[in-house]
Amino acid sequence: MLTDVLGRPLLDLRISVTDRCNFRCTYCMPETDGQKYCFMKKSALMTFEEITRLAEIFVSLGVRKIRLTGGEPLLRKEIDRLVAMIHKIAGLEDLSLTTNGFLLKRYAFALKQAGLDRLNVSLDGLDDEIFPAINGVGVKSSSILEGIDEAIRCGIKVKVNMVVKKGMNDCEIVPMAAYFKEKEITLRFIEYMDVGSRNGWKLDEVMPSKEIFNMISEKMPLEPLKENYYGEVAKRCRYAGTDVEVGFISSVSQPFCGDCTRCRLSADGKIYTCLFASRGTDLLSSMRSGASNDDIIAQIKGVWRIRRDRYSQERGKHPTLNGKRIEMSYIGG
Ligand code: GTP
Ligand code: 5AD
Ligand code: SF4
Ligand code: SF4
Repeated sequence: MLTDVLGRPLLDLRISVTDRCNFRCTYCMPETDGQKYCFMKKSALMTFEEITRLAEIFVSLGVRKIRLTGGEPLLRKEIDRLVAMIHKIAGLEDLSLTTNGFLLKRYAFALKQAGLDRLNVSLDGLDDEIFPAINGVGVKSSSILEGIDEAIRCGIKVKVNMVVKKGMNDCEIVPMAAYFKEKEITLRFIEYMDVGSRNGWKLDEVMPSKEIFNMISEKMPLEPLKENYYGEVAKRCRYAGTDVEVGFISSVSQPFCGDCTRCRLSADGKIYTCLFASRGTDLLSSMRSGASNDDIIAQIKGVWRIRRDRYSQERGKHPTLNGKRIEMSYIGG
C-alpha cells in the first residue's frame, strides 16, 4: 500500500472540476468591488477523458473514495457524463459530490441516472436575510431546500454542510438543526477555517464544535456514534431516541491530520497533498506531453511518499507563508 512519511495511505481523491462558482460566499470567494476573479481558461481544464484516466490511475494505487467538487461542480457542462464515466471504474467503492445546491433541482435526476447515490450540499442558514448575505448573490435558502428535496426524491442520499462563523450565522445553528432533524437529513457543522488568503480569517470568529454541540444538546439531547470509516472527517452523533445524525467537522479545534488520506486534484490537473498547500504537482502537463500511465504512477508515488503535511495540527506554529495559499474554490473543499 502506498503510504506517506507519517504512514497515511492514499485512499481518497477529491477532484475539482471547475474553479468557477455561482456564489460569492464571504468566507470563500468574497465579492471584490467590481474586480473580476481570474478563472482558468477552458483549455487549461482537464477534459472528462483526462479526469477519468487520472481517476483510474488513482484507483489502481488504492483510492477507494472519489469526490467531485469545485468551485461549483454543477457549473461544469455535462457533469452527469463525467459522473457516469467515473462511476464505471472498477474498484471504486464510493463516489460523491459536494455542491452549493443552487442547480441541484435541475440536475438531480440526471446525476442519479449517471450513478450518483449520494451528495453533500453546503447550506449556511435558513434565514432570508442571513443566507443571501453569506452567499453574496442574494440566493434564498428555499431554492437550495428545493434542490435537496428533489435529490432525495430521485433517490440520492443527501448530507448538509454548514460552515459556522461567529457573528455571521451562529444564530442559525439551532434552527438548522431542528429543520434537518425533522427532515431526517444529516447536518454537519464545519468550523470556519483559515483556508486561502482572501477571507480575512480570525481565530476569534471560529465557533468551536464543542460550543455548537452544547447549544444543540440543550434543546435536543445528542448521543455520540462510532466513526463510519477510517479517517472520517466528521465526528458523528445522533439525536437521542432517533436515527437522525448530526456531525461536527472540527478542523480548527480538533484537527484530524493524523489520519488524513486525502489527495486533491485541481481542475487544471495538479495534485495537492493538503488543503493548505501552496504548491501542487502538475499531472496534466505530463499527460499532455505523452506520459504513460506508469510515468504518472511514478509521479504520484513520488509525491505521496514524501508527504508530511499536517497543517491543521501545526496551525499557529508557523506564520502564514506570506499569506500565499491555494484558495478552496480552486483546490476543492
Ligand atoms: P463524506 O465522505 O460524506 O464523509 O464527506 P467529507 O466530509 O469527506 O466531504 P465534504 O466535502 O462534505 O467535506 C466537508 C468539509 O470538511 C469541507 O468542506 C471542509 O471544510 C472540511 N474538510 C474536508 N476534508 C478536509 C481536510 O482534508 N482538511 C481539512 N482541514 N478540512 C477538510
Ligand atoms: N472554512 C470552512 N469550510 C469552508 N468551505 C469553503 N470555505 C471554507 C472555510 N473557510 C466549505 C464550504 C463547502 C465546501 C465546498 O467548502 O462550506 O461545504
Ligand atoms: Fe461558496 Fe462553495 Fe462557491 Fe466557495 S465554492 S463560494 S463555499 S458555494
Ligand atoms: Fe489533511 Fe491538510 Fe486537512 Fe490536515 S490540514 S486534514 S493534512 S488536508
